[in-house]
Amino acid sequence: MIRKLALSALMALTLGGAAPALAAGSGGHITDYAFSFEGPFGTYDRAQLQRGLQVYTEVCSACHGLELVAFRTLADETGLGLDAETVRTYAATFEVDDGDGGYRAAGTPDHFPGSSMETAPDLSLMAKARAGFHGPYGLGINQLLRGMGGAEYIASFLMGFNGEESEQGGAVFYYNEAFGGNVSMAPQLFDDLVEYSDGTQATEEQMAQDVAAFLMWAAEPRQTERKMWGLIGVIFLTLLASLLYLTNKRLWAPIKDQAKRG
Ligand code: HEC
Repeated sequence: MIRKLALSALMALTLGGAAPALAAGSGGHITDYAFSFEGPFGTYDRAQLQRGLQVYTEVCSACHGLELVAFRTLADETGLGLDAETVRTYAATFEVDDGDGGYRAAGTPDHFPGSSMETAPDLSLMAKARAGFHGPYGLGINQLLRGMGGAEYIASFLMGFNGEESEQGGAVFYYNEAFGGNVSMAPQLFDDLVEYSDGTQATEEQMAQDVAAFLMWAAEPRQTERKMWGLIGVIFLTLLASLLYLTNKRLWAPIKDQAKRG
């Protein structure tokens, strides 16, 4: 097993650069989109996340929930950065269980509702769940070397319908190239489906990328902080290592002198 893993890692490393953007695991086709949050210094593009929230709200939320995401996090500085009033008004457009058998308008501490359609999965962690599609044995080589992850998968999935429909047992399925097979979700996006207030042209591909970026943020809202602390850690360890090296040299210097003099 270890040998197999090591071999495939080696193969991926040597072939990685030249290989086309194909998901080796599922056989589906994943496009390598350039997201702002890729790489060690990448951060979320606030305007893009806000557009993504709009697509989620107007399109996806009809079926999919985001039950692990609290409304208050929409105000996070490294995320969407919405002001408190906007978050409050937005949250109030959703209804949550009031614990008394009824419903009340959601407040900022509440979470988004779960999926309203039973067969539609919750999207809170989807960008993480689908990050391992790539590379031999899901080693995540493409993510490491090319920054391809769950956001690429989601955008490719939304763009991946080729128009083929089939019926099985009375249910309609749609062929999806990123999924690499039939799914029960119909194509959702088409040009100018939503109207962006920041003037961005709402093409199908633009919306797919925006909502994918938003779902990446939903799955990992602290990514920017994580990268920052990682960087601080690397700087700190580099300093510590050089100090230890110098200390070591100085401590052993007299002994080495002695040894030389023999
Ligand atoms: C009409 C209901 C409906 C709408 C609207 C909808 N979906 Fe879905 N979605 C589904 C269903 C049902 C599935 C499960 C498909 C399956 O597994 O066959 C699904 C599956 C998915 C998956 C999982 C694919 C996988 O790899 O398993 C993703 C990602 C997804 N939807 C994203 C979105 C996004 C983003 C939007 C908004 C642009 C959206 N969906 C809009 C019904 C919907």
